[in-house]
Amino acid sequence: MSDTAHSSMRTQVGIVGAGPAGLMLGHLLHLAGIDSVIVEKHNREHVIERVRAGVLEQGTVDVMVNAGVGDRLLREGMRHGGIYLAFLGQRHRIDFEDLAGASITVYGQNEVVKDLIAARYATGRPLYFEARDVRLSGFEDGQPGIHFRSDEKEHEIACDFIAGCDGFHGVCRPSMPSEKWRAYEREYPFGWLGILANVAPSSGELVYSLHQRGFALFSMRSPSVTRLYLQCAPDESLDAWPDDRIWDELLARLGTADGWRPNRGGILQKNVTGMRSFVAEPMCCGRLFLAGDAAHILPPTGAKGLNLAIADVVILSRALAAFYQDRREDLLDSYSVLCLRRAWRAQRFSWWMTSMLHRAPGGDEFDYRRQIAELDYLMSSRAAMTSLAENYVGLPTEQR
Ligand code: FAD
Ligand code: DHB
Repeated sequence: MSDTAHSSMRTQVGIVGAGPAGLMLGHLLHLAGIDSVIVEKHNREHVIERVRAGVLEQGTVDVMVNAGVGDRLLREGMRHGGIYLAFLGQRHRIDFEDLAGASITVYGQNEVVKDLIAARYATGRPLYFEARDVRLSGFEDGQPGIHFRSDEKEHEIACDFIAGCDGFHGVCRPSMPSEKWRAYEREYPFGWLGILANVAPSSGELVYSLHQRGFALFSMRSPSVTRLYLQCAPDESLDAWPDDRIWDELLARLGTADGWRPNRGGILQKNVTGMRSFVAEPMCCGRLFLAGDAAHILPPTGAKGLNLAIADVVILSRALAAFYQDRREDLLDSYSVLCLRRAWRAQRFSWWMTSMLHRAPGGDEFDYRRQIAELDYLMSSRAAMTSLAENYVGLPTEQR
Protein backbone atom coordinates (compact mmCIF):
# COMPACT_ATOMS: atom_id res chain seq x y z
CA MET A 1 0.00 0.00 0.00
CA SER A 2 1.29 3.50 -0.83
CA ASP A 3 2.06 5.91 2.05
CA THR A 4 0.78 8.89 0.09
CA ALA A 5 -2.30 10.49 1.61
CA HIS A 6 -5.34 10.91 -0.65
CA SER A 7 -8.00 13.56 -0.72
CA SER A 8 -11.21 13.36 -2.74
CA MET A 9 -13.65 16.17 -3.21
CA ARG A 10 -16.59 17.05 -5.39
CA THR A 11 -17.51 20.31 -7.05
CA GLN A 12 -19.67 21.52 -9.92
CA VAL A 13 -16.94 23.07 -12.10
CA GLY A 14 -13.25 22.16 -11.85
CA ILE A 15 -11.11 25.03 -13.17
CA VAL A 16 -7.52 24.42 -14.29
CA GLY A 17 -5.37 27.60 -14.19
CA ALA A 18 -5.52 30.74 -12.04
CA GLY A 19 -4.75 33.31 -14.75
CA PRO A 20 -7.32 35.97 -15.66
CA ALA A 21 -9.60 33.41 -17.38
CA GLY A 22 -9.71 30.85 -14.54
CA LEU A 23 -10.03 33.41 -11.74
CA MET A 24 -12.73 35.44 -13.51
CA LEU A 25 -14.68 32.31 -14.36
CA GLY A 26 -14.52 31.18 -10.73
CA HIS A 27 -15.83 34.56 -9.63
CA LEU A 28 -18.67 34.74 -12.19
CA LEU A 29 -19.73 31.19 -11.21
CA HIS A 30 -19.66 32.17 -7.54
CA LEU A 31 -21.99 35.10 -8.30
CA ALA A 32 -24.34 32.64 -10.03
CA GLY A 33 -24.26 30.36 -6.96
CA ILE A 34 -22.17 27.69 -8.73
CA ASP A 35 -19.41 25.91 -6.83
CA SER A 36 -15.90 25.54 -8.27
CA VAL A 37 -12.37 24.47 -7.35
CA ILE A 38 -9.39 26.24 -9.01
CA VAL A 39 -6.13 24.35 -9.46
CA GLU A 40 -2.98 26.33 -10.37
CA LYS A 41 0.48 24.98 -11.14
CA HIS A 42 2.58 27.96 -9.98
CA ASN A 43 2.76 29.73 -6.64
CA ARG A 44 0.76 32.85 -5.86
CA GLU A 45 3.70 35.26 -6.17
CA HIS A 46 4.61 33.93 -9.62
CA VAL A 47 1.04 34.26 -10.87
CA ILE A 48 0.76 37.83 -9.59
CA GLU A 49 4.20 39.06 -10.61
CA ARG A 50 4.25 37.88 -14.22
CA VAL A 51 4.26 41.12 -16.24
CA ARG A 52 2.04 40.77 -19.29
CA ALA A 53 -0.97 42.64 -20.65
CA GLY A 54 -1.85 46.22 -19.88
CA VAL A 55 -4.76 47.31 -22.07
CA LEU A 56 -8.35 46.58 -21.05
CA GLU A 57 -11.26 47.11 -23.41
CA GLN A 58 -14.31 48.91 -22.00
CA GLY A 59 -16.19 45.58 -22.12
CA THR A 60 -13.55 44.00 -19.86
CA VAL A 61 -13.74 46.93 -17.44
CA ASP A 62 -17.55 46.58 -17.39
CA VAL A 63 -17.28 42.85 -16.59
CA MET A 64 -14.91 43.60 -13.67
CA VAL A 65 -17.11 46.40 -12.32
CA ASN A 66 -20.39 44.49 -12.69
CA ALA A 67 -18.82 41.50 -10.94
CA GLY A 68 -17.90 43.71 -7.97
CA VAL A 69 -14.12 43.44 -8.55
CA GLY A 70 -13.58 46.80 -10.24
CA ASP A 71 -13.14 49.26 -7.34
CA ARG A 72 -9.34 49.53 -7.55
CA LEU A 73 -9.49 49.37 -11.35
CA LEU A 74 -11.83 52.41 -11.39
CA ARG A 75 -9.55 54.25 -8.92
CA GLU A 76 -6.14 53.41 -10.36
CA GLY A 77 -6.77 52.41 -14.00
CA MET A 78 -5.78 55.05 -16.55
CA ARG A 79 -8.48 55.82 -19.10
CA HIS A 80 -7.15 56.61 -22.57
CA GLY A 81 -9.31 58.19 -25.28
CA GLY A 82 -6.95 57.25 -28.12
CA ILE A 83 -3.51 56.06 -29.24
CA TYR A 84 -0.74 57.46 -31.39
CA LEU A 85 0.74 55.80 -34.47
CA ALA A 86 4.23 57.05 -35.32
CA PHE A 87 6.02 56.73 -38.68
CA LEU A 88 8.49 58.83 -40.69
CA GLY A 89 9.28 60.80 -37.53
CA GLN A 90 5.70 62.04 -36.94
CA ARG A 91 3.09 61.05 -34.32
CA HIS A 92 -0.54 60.82 -35.46
CA ARG A 93 -3.42 60.45 -33.00
CA ILE A 94 -6.40 58.13 -33.45
CA ASP A 95 -9.27 59.41 -31.35
CA PHE A 96 -11.26 56.40 -30.08
CA GLU A 97 -13.90 58.49 -28.31
CA ASP A 98 -14.70 60.47 -31.44
CA LEU A 99 -14.46 57.54 -33.88
CA ALA A 100 -15.87 54.63 -31.86
CA GLY A 101 -17.50 56.29 -28.85
CA ALA A 102 -15.36 54.32 -26.39
CA SER A 103 -12.06 54.37 -24.55
CA ILE A 104 -9.56 51.83 -23.21
CA THR A 105 -8.13 51.49 -19.71
CA VAL A 106 -4.49 50.83 -18.91
CA TYR A 107 -4.31 48.59 -15.83
CA GLY A 108 -1.71 45.82 -15.51
CA GLN A 109 -2.78 42.20 -15.86
CA ASN A 110 -0.99 41.50 -12.58
CA GLU A 111 -3.29 44.02 -10.87
CA VAL A 112 -6.33 42.28 -12.42
CA VAL A 113 -5.03 38.94 -11.13
CA LYS A 114 -4.30 40.41 -7.67
CA ASP A 115 -7.88 41.76 -7.42
CA LEU A 116 -9.38 38.45 -8.57
CA ILE A 117 -7.30 36.38 -6.11
CA ALA A 118 -8.43 38.67 -3.27
CA ALA A 119 -12.05 38.22 -4.39
CA ARG A 120 -11.59 34.43 -4.52
CA TYR A 121 -10.21 34.34 -0.99
CA ALA A 122 -13.15 36.45 0.18
CA THR A 123 -15.59 33.81 -1.12
CA GLY A 124 -13.82 31.06 0.85
CA ARG A 125 -14.02 28.78 -2.19
CA PRO A 126 -10.95 26.60 -2.86
CA LEU A 127 -7.93 27.76 -4.87
CA TYR A 128 -4.90 25.46 -4.88
CA PHE A 129 -1.52 26.91 -5.84
CA GLU A 130 1.54 24.78 -6.63
CA ALA A 131 -0.53 21.84 -7.88
CA ARG A 132 1.85 19.31 -9.46
CA ASP A 133 1.23 16.72 -12.20
CA VAL A 134 -2.25 17.98 -13.04
CA ARG A 135 -4.13 15.40 -15.10
CA LEU A 136 -7.71 15.19 -16.43
CA SER A 137 -9.98 12.17 -16.74
CA GLY A 138 -13.47 11.15 -17.82
CA PHE A 139 -14.57 14.35 -19.59
CA GLU A 140 -15.64 12.36 -22.66
CA ASP A 141 -17.63 9.86 -20.57
CA GLY A 142 -19.68 12.30 -18.50
CA GLN A 143 -17.53 11.76 -15.37
CA PRO A 144 -14.93 14.52 -15.42
CA GLY A 145 -12.11 14.43 -12.89
CA ILE A 146 -9.01 16.51 -12.12
CA HIS A 147 -6.06 14.85 -10.41
CA PHE A 148 -2.99 16.55 -8.92
CA ARG A 149 -0.42 16.42 -6.15
CA SER A 150 0.01 19.09 -3.50
CA ASP A 151 1.33 19.07 0.10
CA GLU A 152 2.53 15.49 -0.39
CA LYS A 153 -1.10 14.46 -1.01
CA GLU A 154 -2.79 13.00 -4.10
CA HIS A 155 -5.94 15.01 -4.78
CA GLU A 156 -8.90 14.00 -6.88
CA ILE A 157 -11.71 16.36 -7.80
CA ALA A 158 -14.90 14.88 -9.25
CA CYS A 159 -16.89 17.52 -11.13
CA ASP A 160 -19.69 18.04 -13.65
CA PHE A 161 -17.53 20.13 -16.00
CA ILE A 162 -13.86 21.05 -16.46
CA ALA A 163 -12.86 24.53 -17.56
CA GLY A 164 -9.42 24.47 -19.23
CA CYS A 165 -8.07 27.94 -18.38
CA ASP A 166 -4.42 26.86 -18.19
CA GLY A 167 -2.92 29.03 -20.92
CA PHE A 168 -1.08 28.09 -24.09
CA HIS A 169 1.33 25.62 -22.45
CA GLY A 170 -1.25 23.94 -20.21
CA VAL A 171 -2.44 20.31 -20.03
CA CYS A 172 -6.11 20.71 -20.95
CA ARG A 173 -5.88 21.26 -24.72
CA PRO A 174 -3.40 18.38 -25.23
CA SER A 175 -5.72 16.13 -23.17
CA MET A 176 -8.33 16.32 -25.96
CA PRO A 177 -7.89 13.35 -28.34
CA SER A 178 -6.10 14.63 -31.45
CA GLU A 179 -8.88 13.49 -33.82
CA LYS A 180 -11.42 15.65 -31.93
CA TRP A 181 -9.89 19.07 -32.65
CA ARG A 182 -7.70 20.98 -35.05
CA ALA A 183 -5.10 23.74 -34.65
CA TYR A 184 -4.75 26.75 -36.95
CA GLU A 185 -1.42 28.41 -36.45
CA ARG A 186 1.00 31.08 -37.68
CA GLU A 187 4.43 31.88 -36.25
CA TYR A 188 5.93 35.32 -36.80
CA PRO A 189 9.64 35.82 -37.47
CA PHE A 190 10.02 38.33 -34.61
CA GLY A 191 9.43 38.82 -30.89
CA TRP A 192 9.17 41.67 -28.39
CA LEU A 193 11.78 42.68 -25.86
CA GLY A 194 9.73 44.31 -23.07
CA ILE A 195 10.94 46.47 -20.19
CA LEU A 196 9.39 48.11 -17.16
CA ALA A 197 11.14 51.40 -16.35
CA ASN A 198 11.01 53.29 -13.11
CA VAL A 199 10.16 56.64 -14.71
CA ALA A 200 7.07 58.75 -15.39
CA PRO A 201 5.45 58.17 -18.81
CA SER A 202 6.23 61.11 -21.14
CA SER A 203 2.96 60.73 -23.09
CA GLY A 204 -0.58 60.39 -21.74
CA GLU A 205 -1.37 57.75 -24.40
CA LEU A 206 0.29 54.74 -26.05
CA VAL A 207 2.58 55.22 -29.06
CA TYR A 208 2.91 52.42 -31.65
CA SER A 209 5.87 53.17 -33.95
CA LEU A 210 7.04 51.72 -37.26
CA HIS A 211 10.69 52.68 -37.81
CA GLN A 212 13.29 51.61 -40.39
CA ARG A 213 14.98 49.76 -37.48
CA GLY A 214 11.78 47.92 -36.53
CA PHE A 215 8.67 48.29 -34.36
CA ALA A 216 8.61 49.90 -30.90
CA LEU A 217 5.76 50.54 -28.45
CA PHE A 218 5.47 53.05 -25.64
CA SER A 219 3.02 52.15 -22.87
CA MET A 220 2.74 52.59 -19.11
CA ARG A 221 1.62 50.99 -15.88
CA SER A 222 1.16 53.94 -13.51
CA PRO A 223 2.00 57.66 -13.29
CA SER A 224 5.54 56.62 -12.28
CA VAL A 225 6.19 53.45 -14.32
CA THR A 226 6.68 53.25 -18.10
CA ARG A 227 6.32 50.01 -20.10
CA LEU A 228 8.17 49.78 -23.43
CA TYR A 229 8.65 47.15 -26.12
CA LEU A 230 11.12 46.70 -29.02
CA GLN A 231 10.77 44.35 -31.97
CA CYS A 232 13.58 41.76 -31.78
CA ALA A 233 14.33 38.20 -32.95
CA PRO A 234 11.94 35.59 -31.46
CA ASP A 235 14.88 33.90 -29.68
CA GLU A 236 16.77 37.11 -28.84
CA SER A 237 19.17 36.74 -25.91
CA LEU A 238 18.83 39.39 -23.20
CA ASP A 239 22.62 39.12 -22.72
CA ALA A 240 23.00 41.10 -25.93
CA TRP A 241 20.89 43.93 -24.50
CA PRO A 242 22.56 45.91 -21.72
CA ASP A 243 20.34 48.74 -20.45
CA ASP A 244 22.11 51.46 -22.49
CA ARG A 245 21.58 49.58 -25.74
CA ILE A 246 17.87 49.13 -24.96
CA TRP A 247 17.42 52.86 -24.29
CA ASP A 248 19.40 53.92 -27.38
CA GLU A 249 17.25 51.68 -29.54
CA LEU A 250 13.97 52.79 -27.92
CA LEU A 251 14.85 56.46 -28.33
CA ALA A 252 15.90 55.92 -31.97
CA ARG A 253 12.69 54.07 -32.86
CA LEU A 254 10.20 56.13 -30.83
CA GLY A 255 11.50 59.73 -30.80
CA THR A 256 9.64 62.07 -33.17
CA ALA A 257 10.56 65.29 -34.96
CA ASP A 258 8.47 67.41 -32.52
CA GLY A 259 11.01 66.47 -29.81
CA TRP A 260 8.84 63.85 -28.09
CA ARG A 261 10.64 60.81 -26.68
CA PRO A 262 10.21 58.41 -23.76
CA ASN A 263 11.77 59.43 -20.44
CA ARG A 264 14.84 57.37 -19.62
CA GLY A 265 14.97 55.63 -16.21
CA GLY A 266 16.08 52.60 -14.24
CA ILE A 267 15.04 49.29 -15.82
CA LEU A 268 13.08 47.21 -13.29
CA GLN A 269 12.46 44.15 -15.43
CA LYS A 270 13.24 42.81 -18.95
CA ASN A 271 11.86 39.89 -20.94
CA VAL A 272 11.56 38.53 -24.48
CA THR A 273 8.40 36.94 -25.92
CA GLY A 274 7.94 35.25 -29.27
CA MET A 275 4.83 35.84 -31.35
CA ARG A 276 2.30 33.43 -32.66
CA SER A 277 -1.31 33.21 -33.77
CA PHE A 278 -3.04 29.99 -32.71
CA VAL A 279 -6.66 28.82 -32.63
CA ALA A 280 -7.95 25.42 -31.46
CA GLU A 281 -11.28 24.32 -32.99
CA PRO A 282 -13.60 23.40 -31.42
CA MET A 283 -12.94 24.89 -27.99
CA CYS A 284 -14.52 21.93 -26.22
CA CYS A 285 -14.56 18.16 -26.03
CA GLY A 286 -17.30 16.38 -24.08
CA ARG A 287 -17.49 18.13 -20.71
CA LEU A 288 -14.17 19.97 -21.10
CA PHE A 289 -14.39 23.61 -22.19
CA LEU A 290 -11.26 25.60 -23.09
CA ALA A 291 -11.11 29.36 -22.42
CA GLY A 292 -8.52 32.09 -22.98
CA ASP A 293 -4.95 31.34 -24.09
CA ALA A 294 -5.60 27.58 -23.70
CA ALA A 295 -7.75 27.88 -26.84
CA HIS A 296 -6.21 30.79 -28.75
CA ILE A 297 -3.24 33.13 -28.64
CA LEU A 298 -2.50 36.23 -30.65
CA PRO A 299 0.47 38.42 -31.40
CA PRO A 300 0.31 41.15 -28.72
CA THR A 301 0.17 44.12 -31.14
CA GLY A 302 -3.62 44.40 -30.98
CA ALA A 303 -3.72 44.09 -27.13
CA LYS A 304 -6.46 41.47 -27.41
CA GLY A 305 -5.41 38.28 -25.50
CA LEU A 306 -6.58 39.15 -22.01
CA ASN A 307 -9.76 40.76 -23.32
CA LEU A 308 -10.58 37.66 -25.35
CA ALA A 309 -9.96 35.46 -22.30
CA ILE A 310 -12.49 37.51 -20.30
CA ALA A 311 -15.03 37.45 -23.17
CA ASP A 312 -14.76 33.61 -23.29
CA VAL A 313 -15.45 33.13 -19.60
CA VAL A 314 -18.39 35.52 -19.64
CA ILE A 315 -19.99 33.31 -22.34
CA LEU A 316 -19.01 30.11 -20.49
CA SER A 317 -20.37 31.30 -17.15
CA ARG A 318 -23.72 32.19 -18.78
CA ALA A 319 -23.89 28.78 -20.43
CA LEU A 320 -23.13 27.00 -17.14
CA ALA A 321 -25.66 29.15 -15.27
CA ALA A 322 -28.34 28.20 -17.85
CA PHE A 323 -27.42 24.55 -17.33
CA TYR A 324 -27.68 24.66 -13.53
CA GLN A 325 -30.69 26.96 -13.32
CA ASP A 326 -32.86 25.64 -16.17
CA ARG A 327 -31.14 22.39 -17.27
CA ARG A 328 -30.57 24.05 -20.63
CA GLU A 329 -27.66 22.66 -22.67
CA ASP A 330 -28.08 24.80 -25.79
CA LEU A 331 -25.73 27.54 -24.58
CA LEU A 332 -23.04 24.97 -23.77
CA ASP A 333 -23.55 23.53 -27.26
CA SER A 334 -23.06 26.94 -28.89
CA TYR A 335 -20.14 28.03 -26.63
CA SER A 336 -17.36 27.14 -29.04
CA VAL A 337 -18.99 28.65 -32.15
CA LEU A 338 -19.75 31.90 -30.35
CA CYS A 339 -16.25 32.29 -28.88
CA LEU A 340 -14.50 31.32 -32.11
CA ARG A 341 -16.29 34.01 -34.07
CA ARG A 342 -14.90 36.67 -31.74
CA ALA A 343 -11.50 34.94 -31.55
CA TRP A 344 -11.09 34.95 -35.34
CA ARG A 345 -12.02 38.61 -35.61
CA ALA A 346 -9.41 39.38 -32.95
CA GLN A 347 -6.90 37.22 -34.86
CA ARG A 348 -7.58 39.16 -38.04
CA PHE A 349 -7.08 42.51 -36.30
CA SER A 350 -3.94 41.43 -34.42
CA TRP A 351 -2.41 39.96 -37.59
CA TRP A 352 -3.17 43.18 -39.47
CA MET A 353 -1.71 45.48 -36.78
CA THR A 354 1.36 43.23 -36.50
CA SER A 355 1.95 43.09 -40.27
CA MET A 356 1.50 46.83 -40.66
CA LEU A 357 3.87 47.80 -37.84
CA HIS A 358 6.73 45.26 -37.86
CA ARG A 359 9.64 44.96 -40.29
CA ALA A 360 10.21 41.52 -41.78
CA PRO A 361 13.76 40.26 -41.12
CA GLY A 362 15.90 41.00 -44.15
CA GLY A 363 14.38 44.47 -44.46
CA ASP A 364 12.55 44.36 -47.77
CA GLU A 365 12.25 48.02 -48.89
CA PHE A 366 9.14 47.35 -50.99
CA ASP A 367 7.33 46.08 -47.92
CA TYR A 368 8.49 49.02 -45.80
CA ARG A 369 7.21 51.53 -48.35
CA ARG A 370 3.94 49.63 -48.68
CA GLN A 371 3.56 49.67 -44.86
CA ILE A 372 4.23 53.42 -44.76
CA ALA A 373 1.62 53.88 -47.53
CA GLU A 374 -0.84 51.85 -45.46
CA LEU A 375 -0.26 54.04 -42.38
CA ASP A 376 -0.46 57.17 -44.53
CA TYR A 377 -3.78 56.01 -45.99
CA LEU A 378 -5.07 55.06 -42.54
CA MET A 379 -4.38 58.53 -41.15
CA SER A 380 -5.99 60.20 -44.18
CA SER A 381 -9.24 58.23 -44.05
CA ARG A 382 -11.85 58.57 -41.33
CA ALA A 383 -13.34 55.25 -42.46
CA ALA A 384 -10.00 53.43 -42.06
CA MET A 385 -9.31 55.07 -38.67
CA THR A 386 -12.83 54.14 -37.51
CA SER A 387 -12.19 50.52 -38.42
CA LEU A 388 -8.98 50.48 -36.36
CA ALA A 389 -10.69 52.29 -33.47
CA GLU A 390 -13.72 49.99 -33.25
CA ASN A 391 -11.54 46.87 -33.30
CA TYR A 392 -9.04 48.25 -30.78
CA VAL A 393 -11.67 49.31 -28.22
CA GLY A 394 -13.36 45.91 -28.66
CA LEU A 395 -16.20 44.64 -30.80
CA PRO A 396 -19.54 44.18 -29.00
CA THR A 397 -19.96 40.87 -27.13
CA GLU A 398 -22.02 38.43 -29.17
CA GLN A 399 -25.36 37.45 -27.63
CA ARG A 400 -27.36 34.42 -28.55
P1 FAD B 1 -2.71 32.69 -18.57
O1 FAD B 1 -2.59 34.10 -18.12
O2 FAD B 1 -1.54 32.09 -19.31
O3 FAD B 1 -3.04 31.80 -17.31
C1 FAD B 1 -2.99 30.40 -17.33
C2 FAD B 1 -2.67 29.89 -15.94
O4 FAD B 1 -2.68 28.47 -15.95
C3 FAD B 1 -1.29 30.32 -15.47
O5 FAD B 1 -1.37 30.89 -14.19
C4 FAD B 1 -0.48 29.03 -15.49
O6 FAD B 1 0.52 29.00 -14.48
C5 FAD B 1 -1.56 28.00 -15.24
N1 FAD B 1 -1.20 26.66 -15.72
C6 FAD B 1 -0.48 26.32 -16.80
N2 FAD B 1 -0.36 24.99 -16.90
C7 FAD B 1 -1.03 24.47 -15.85
C8 FAD B 1 -1.26 23.16 -15.41
N3 FAD B 1 -0.75 22.12 -16.06
N4 FAD B 1 -1.98 22.97 -14.30
C9 FAD B 1 -2.49 24.02 -13.62
N5 FAD B 1 -2.30 25.31 -13.99
C10 FAD B 1 -1.58 25.53 -15.09
N6 FAD B 1 -3.51 40.86 -23.79
C11 FAD B 1 -4.31 41.96 -23.79
O7 FAD B 1 -5.54 41.80 -23.81
N7 FAD B 1 -3.81 43.22 -23.78
C12 FAD B 1 -2.47 43.46 -23.78
O8 FAD B 1 -2.04 44.62 -23.70
C13 FAD B 1 -1.58 42.32 -23.82
N8 FAD B 1 -0.24 42.47 -23.82
C14 FAD B 1 0.56 41.37 -23.73
C15 FAD B 1 1.92 41.57 -23.68
C16 FAD B 1 2.77 40.48 -23.58
C17 FAD B 1 4.26 40.72 -23.54
C18 FAD B 1 2.24 39.15 -23.50
C19 FAD B 1 3.14 37.94 -23.36
C20 FAD B 1 0.86 38.95 -23.55
C21 FAD B 1 0.02 40.04 -23.66
N9 FAD B 1 -1.35 39.87 -23.72
C22 FAD B 1 -2.16 40.99 -23.80
C23 FAD B 1 -1.95 38.53 -23.66
C24 FAD B 1 -2.44 38.15 -22.26
O9 FAD B 1 -1.40 38.29 -21.31
C25 FAD B 1 -2.97 36.70 -22.25
O10 FAD B 1 -3.87 36.55 -23.32
C26 FAD B 1 -3.68 36.35 -20.93
O11 FAD B 1 -2.72 36.12 -19.92
C27 FAD B 1 -4.57 35.10 -21.07
O12 FAD B 1 -5.10 34.73 -19.84
P2 FAD B 1 -5.39 33.21 -19.50
O13 FAD B 1 -5.96 33.20 -18.13
O14 FAD B 1 -6.13 32.58 -20.61
O15 FAD B 1 -3.96 32.50 -19.52
C1 DHB C 1 0.72 46.76 -23.84
C2 DHB C 1 0.83 45.53 -24.45
C3 DHB C 1 0.36 45.38 -25.73
O1 DHB C 1 0.43 44.18 -26.33
C4 DHB C 1 -0.19 46.44 -26.42
O2 DHB C 1 -0.62 46.26 -27.69
C5 DHB C 1 -0.30 47.66 -25.81
C6 DHB C 1 0.15 47.82 -24.49
C7 DHB C 1 1.22 46.91 -22.45
O3 DHB C 1 1.79 45.95 -21.92
O4 DHB C 1 1.05 47.98 -21.87
